[in-house]
Amino acid sequence: MKKKKNNVILITSSPRKKSNSKTAGKFLAGNLFSKYEYVDINKYDIKSCSGCDKCKNSLICVKKDDAEKIIKKIENSEFVIVASPVYFTGVPSKLKCFIDRNQVQWYKNKNRKEKNKKGIIILTADLKDKKNFLAAESEIKSFFAVNKIKCISSVKLSGVINKNYGVLKKEIKKIRSKIGK
Ligand SMILES: Cc1cc2nc3c(=O)[nH]c(=O)nc-3n(C[C@H](O)[C@H](O)[C@H](O)COP(=O)(O)O)c2cc1C
Repeated sequence: MKKKKNNVILITSSPRKKSNSKTAGKFLAGNLFSKYEYVDINKYDIKSCSGCDKCKNSLICVKKDDAEKIIKKIENSEFVIVASPVYFTGVPSKLKCFIDRNQVQWYKNKNRKEKNKKGIIILTADLKDKKNFLAAESEIKSFFAVNKIKCISSVKLSGVINKNYGVLKKEIKKIRSKIGK
């Protein structure tokens, strides 16, 4: 099948080099798209939100670091893929730190109804229980919502990546039929 060109961004959050979620994210993005931009959130300088709420009126964050740069990349993307491990049922702190900085997007986009972007979530964890993934999934979905990204797939993988290629391939097939590829 011929791969179409899209503006695609893959965001990963695992601090590990040999990472289940990074491998899964790259496998899925590489199978669906001919090109994608890779953003490892750990390589960026992202300060935590101080809750000053100045962005409510200015629509600009007072903190000067890389968060705005990543938000711009997301604004320019048609597809946003987030691949993350589950940490204490939520997302790792660096990703949460970035998500909190999207408060400015909440104020910018709150009156916009249309969701013109598509999002895919990939979560990896040790445990199988679906409840184990709920907080992480909900945090990423909330980040999608403020950026007007419609979540079209949420893949939850348990255990090491080598045991999960079958599940991933099935999900890729489903996503292809959803996006017409
Ligand atoms: C700090 C920390 C917290 C974790 N919390 C959970 C958890 O709540 N539930 C779970 O099933 N696995 C948990 N794990 C295991 C990882 O989610 C799992 O090994 C995952 O596949 C790692 O992904 P990665 O290889 O991309 O880093 C935790 C691991 C760490 C280091």
